[in-house]
Amino acid sequence: MKTVLEKVPQGDPLTIPEQKAVIDAIIDRNRQKPGATMVVLSEMQNEIGFLSEPMQEYIASELQVPLSSVHGVVTFYSFFTTTPRGRHSIKFCLGTACYVGGADQLIEKAEQVLGIKIGETTPNGAITIETCRCVGACSQAPVIAIDEELFGKMTAAKLPKVLAQYQD
Ligand code: FES
Repeated sequence: MKTVLEKVPQGDPLTIPEQKAVIDAIIDRNRQKPGATMVVLSEMQNEIGFLSEPMQEYIASELQVPLSSVHGVVTFYSFFTTTPRGRHSIKFCLGTACYVGGADQLIEKAEQVLGIKIGETTPNGAITIETCRCVGACSQAPVIAIDEELFGKMTAAKLPKVLAQYQD
């Protein structure tokens, strides 16, 4: 039977020696802790930037926990991502005011302009599009957040120009 590492596709962080060393260090320093799975996944998300399927399998095998419980944690918390994130994060607020204000049309426009779906990253690695909850600027609805900046009263007509500035 092949071990987890033998079937990892090239390019996965597990095949890159510097990243593999980071992954092993995270596992080693946390494996005895209570709630090790959550701690390891959080640190790996922060330090590597995402949790690929092989990484999840590797964590499960190293921590000797079922893969299903690792999957369960990763899919439950939106903080975790399973693919690399773009250099810019564009979040569409789906709180009530923004939703009523037409957030779905903004999302549709962004998906059309960028050629990706919510949760995905443009092929050049520039932009990841996501949704989020109310960001506290409801009077400016509909709102999008680009990296740390909020853009209010957004319209589908204005959006392509805004997106273009982040497409590197
Ligand atoms: S609902 Fe979008 S900012 Fe509050």
